[in-house]
Amino acid sequence: MTQDELKTLVGQAALQYVVPGEIVGVGTGSTVNKFIDALAGMKDRIRGAVSSSLASTERLQALGIPVFDANEVERLAVYIDGADEIDRSGHMVKGGGAALTREKIVASLSARFVCIADESKLVDVLGGFPLPVEVIPMAASAIARHFQAIGGAATLRLKDGQPLVTDNGQHILDVRGLKIADPVKFEAEVSQWPGVVTVGVFAFQKAQVCLLGTSTGVQTLDFTAVQ
Ligand code: 5RP
Repeated sequence: MTQDELKTLVGQAALQYVVPGEIVGVGTGSTVNKFIDALAGMKDRIRGAVSSSLASTERLQALGIPVFDANEVERLAVYIDGADEIDRSGHMVKGGGAALTREKIVASLSARFVCIADESKLVDVLGGFPLPVEVIPMAASAIARHFQAIGGAATLRLKDGQPLVTDNGQHILDVRGLKIADPVKFEAEVSQWPGVVTVGVFAFQKAQVCLLGTSTGVQTLDFTAVQ
């Protein structure tokens, strides 16, 4: 199966976690796009979605799925999103699509995070994928120096030769060379550096379940009993 077919498979499999009659949290990325397409098939059985990016909002609305502002909901039963990396405890690196801040917000509103990913995303230790960090532009160099001090090389993400601007009007640093052995400690520490809006380690908002697309079908990894 191609990677695209694996993404379709897990996108469809995620429908089993959508609670009829409720609002579902929706992430961002190519795997989530497959989920959104599948969700359109049951749009009459849900109230709508809270979206984690302008891109997902556009796709949801184009398919006739109502999108609610996060401020309109107190709690979501489930949040469905992809990942750039996921370890065997459900900790993730996210933000390859620059939507990490809103993703973390919607994840924090949700009782359950269901990660959908193809098997290439499963890793033993986070850090192989360049770690996305959303930053306030005036702090970018200082934050890059902080990362240098712990062995990371940060570069400003560009789009069409200019700094990429997120949905929140901020910039993204991509940090290479890190080995994130303790994701909880790492997320807590980096989140406190002045100017960091969101670090792309999702340890506090980790996945409870991962639907992993493999050549033999969808494998369900359950992390509820894992720290
Ligand atoms: C976007 C994300 C995505 O979930 C992550 O980049 C995975 O994307 P894809 O499904 O396209 O591989 O965090 O900010």
